[in-house]
Amino acid sequence: MLTVAVLISGAGSNLRALLEAADEPDFPARVVVVGADREADGFAHAEAFGIPTFLVPYEQFDTRAAWGEELRRQIEVWSPDLVVLSGLMRLLPEGVVRAWAPLLINTHPAYLPSFPGAHGVRDALAAGVSETGASVIVVDTGVDTGPILAQEHVPVLEGDTEHTLHERIKPVERRLLIDVVRRIGSGELDLAPFATP
Ligand code: GRF
Repeated sequence: MLTVAVLISGAGSNLRALLEAADEPDFPARVVVVGADREADGFAHAEAFGIPTFLVPYEQFDTRAAWGEELRRQIEVWSPDLVVLSGLMRLLPEGVVRAWAPLLINTHPAYLPSFPGAHGVRDALAAGVSETGASVIVVDTGVDTGPILAQEHVPVLEGDTEHTLHERIKPVERRLLIDVVRRIGSGELDLAPFATP
């Protein structure tokens, strides 16, 4: 049974979807802990499912590296097989990435390599593209530059706002994330080949 740690910053709707999927008896993975860099609303989902949580408040650390080291320590307490970033709105320091990659995956609300970074939805809208997408990648030391594990296009509709477009992307993101975690848990998808030198 694959054990998974999920890191969030926000509403945790993708986390919720993963918790619901993992509740299915035949799902080959379970979430063992949920962590965040701030008091995330998504903690409510972890509590609803009886999953332990930890908080490593970014603003309490002098440097990103110091924050990252505490985050890494907290994750290691649970020794998960896989770490999932699902709405974590922080770039992980290189030390954390190197400690966990390639067993460290991220969901992104765009069709990478288009529109990486913290505002993928807003950037796609501003670019006037007719379609964007959702991607699940292995985290590397770049910004959303890691190997793509799954991705799917999502249409941009007339009159879309950042919110309406993001809400259309998220269900696709959740489906891709759950499928990738299922494939890793079942042994169908091996992340070892994605290890960066
Ligand atoms: C997701 O689209 C995630 O990819 C992006 O922020 C959003 C978080 O949504 N980084 P939620 O917190 O899972 O609702």
